[in-house]
Amino acid sequence: MRVLLGVSGGIAAYKSAALLRLLTEAGHDVRVVPTAAALEFVGRATWEALSGHPVTTGVFDDVASVEHVRLGQSADLVVVAPATADLLARAATGRADDLLTAALLVARCPVLLVPAMHTEMWLHPATQANVATLRSRGVHVLDPASGRLTGADSGPGRMPEPDEIAAAALALVGPRDLAGRRVVVSAGGTREPVDPVRFLGNRSTGRQGVALARAAARRGADVVLVAANVTVPLPHGVTVRAVETAAELGAAVRAEGKDADVVVMAAAVADFRPAEPAEHKIKKTSGEPAPIALVPTDDVLAGLVADPPRAGQVVVGFAAETGDASGDVLHHGREKARRKGAHLLVVNAVGGGRGFGAETNEVTILDRAGDVVGRAAGTKDDVADAVWDAVVRLLDVDA
Ligand code: CTP
Repeated sequence: MRVLLGVSGGIAAYKSAALLRLLTEAGHDVRVVPTAAALEFVGRATWEALSGHPVTTGVFDDVASVEHVRLGQSADLVVVAPATADLLARAATGRADDLLTAALLVARCPVLLVPAMHTEMWLHPATQANVATLRSRGVHVLDPASGRLTGADSGPGRMPEPDEIAAAALALVGPRDLAGRRVVVSAGGTREPVDPVRFLGNRSTGRQGVALARAAARRGADVVLVAANVTVPLPHGVTVRAVETAAELGAAVRAEGKDADVVVMAAAVADFRPAEPAEHKIKKTSGEPAPIALVPTDDVLAGLVADPPRAGQVVVGFAAETGDASGDVLHHGREKARRKGAHLLVVNAVGGGRGFGAETNEVTILDRAGDVVGRAAGTKDDVADAVWDAVVRLLDVDA
């Protein structure tokens, strides 16, 4: 595997020499890209000798081979250790003022940043905001360890030990088991116009659908994200088709689904829409408000099951459920799995702070008979991987 090891200018750079050693001894081809400041701590000769490759820091050092593009494109994994507050800020704002930050903009593989700095710098709202931005884009940022810092002081900010960093980094490079597959994921919540300024909508942010798209791309799929009013950052490396209403979403999913191996309906699609959206803004001065007559929308998932845009396609539905007097979440999920007929139904419990807008999710994955074929609890990225694991098992059976 080709690993790009970025090193920025902090005292913990000396520990990255050991990290480099661990990675090369594990058989990986490691290219080291230090920042100019990193070379103040550990010199070029160390990096070149341990990696067996020449080392440059600037985009103008080897212009003929367009290093910043080649390094980013060819890497299977990027690790930046230590990542200083300055490096985090430059990465979060998309700066490209040296070879390392330029390569970070080009890379589409998993990226792990390993912050190391003084406690005050780590806890500063600017640094925390930069970390949140990077994480929202799918960059993995390790939390620093607590302990002795450069001087006599101690607190959070210390770089974890090289073996921990190597383990965390290698864990990111999962299987490319969706390579060659084309998948469509719908995400977000539809909006049905009432008049030119108002709509009937729902609380979906699109976070779970975006995580599904991002995970599929990481696992090698060619991904189209049909995004209905998604309010979280959109992932890199996927084709995005923005839609607004249930009808637009249905049309986009069917069109994109024509040559897809898998369609995942993670969007919260309106079941009803105003029958006749008003042409002009409804005024409060126009007297008693008229009731808004609703008509059902098409059930996109049901359409995919009854009449797949492509034969043999795997169709995945989502079901947001709350338990009630007639049964618990799983009871309702089982009933819906049998009724909907999708190959997989991902059932998640909502209400009480769970589901919509939350960072984490807890799901049970059912097959069309209502049998449990997977479970996941954790971040929406963890849930996304569990869904793709179940999809891959089905694709492998068909293959
Ligand atoms: N869905 C769809 N088109 C719709 C409504 C829903 O494709 N018009 C999809 C969603 O994307 C999701 C699944 O259907 O994958 C489950 O939707 P849900 O609203 O939970 O199911 P319903 O059949 O509407 O059941 P109920 O409202 O009775 O819980």
